[in-house]
Amino acid sequence: SAERINIAIDGPAGAGKSTVARLAAQALQYIYVDTGAMYRAVTLRALEQGMSNEDEERVAALANELDIELLPGSDSQRVLVDGEDVSTRLRSLDVNRNVSHFARIEAVRHRMADLQRRMAKQKGVVMDGRDIGTHVLPDAELKVFLTASSIERAKRRFLELGPDPGISLEQLEKEIAERDRLDQEREIAPLLCAPDARVLDSTGKSADEVAGQIVTWALAIARTISAEEK
Ligand code: CDP
Ligand code: CDP
Repeated sequence: SAERINIAIDGPAGAGKSTVARLAAQALQYIYVDTGAMYRAVTLRALEQGMSNEDEERVAALANELDIELLPGSDSQRVLVDGEDVSTRLRSLDVNRNVSHFARIEAVRHRMADLQRRMAKQKGVVMDGRDIGTHVLPDAELKVFLTASSIERAKRRFLELGPDPGISLEQLEKEIAERDRLDQEREIAPLLCAPDARVLDSTGKSADEVAGQIVTWALAIARTISAEEK
């Protein structure tokens, strides 16, 4: 039987991490874990309860209490927070604009990383985020740093917003760049390419193509580990 490994996929917004991670997990029959959804869930609830990112203690308490469940779905993952399906609301412009500010809070990051490590304990996990290869799963057998040009990333996100986007492409590109900047410059576990990550540029490539590359790498690594153990 093939060895199960953990796969970390990090990179900036709109690089295709979630899409490609889900496809790769399906192909490998692994579990997909969307860590961005967890930071979004904390942000959504904090905003609903009128908290600002300056209320660090209240936000930390909230993050420690929240019950976040990630349910695998065939084409989209469902996210339950304290039993309520908030999947759609997690993608709102309001959450987009605030999430990086809440994600800087040390106690929030500590709690999320702890939950994420527990989910990966049994191996066979594809986890995407910003700090997975560098911080959450530094021992992941495969680390991918997924990128794409900033205009392509903005266009992908713009298309997802549908016929009534509520924002211009130019403005969306600016907001994505600002979020990337905050993620790269934060003190704790910033967005960073791990020295042992394989850099994959998805500009001009289909999601299937990119997922296929990751699956090929994963199977090769799993085979090598099995052979070494014999
Ligand atoms: O899907 P998109 O790339 O736009 O964002 P996401 O993966 O849902 O992550 C939303 C935000 O959560 C990021 O901009 C980060 O501020 C934060 N995040 C993080 O700090 N660490 C992670 N491992 C994942 C997300
Ligand atoms: O998770 P991340 O923010 O990195 O990206 P995403 O939420 O997966 O969004 C990427 C969008 O670009 C999705 O609408 C995909 O269908 C599309 N896409 C992709 O993911 N990968 C490609 N190589 C090409 C397009």
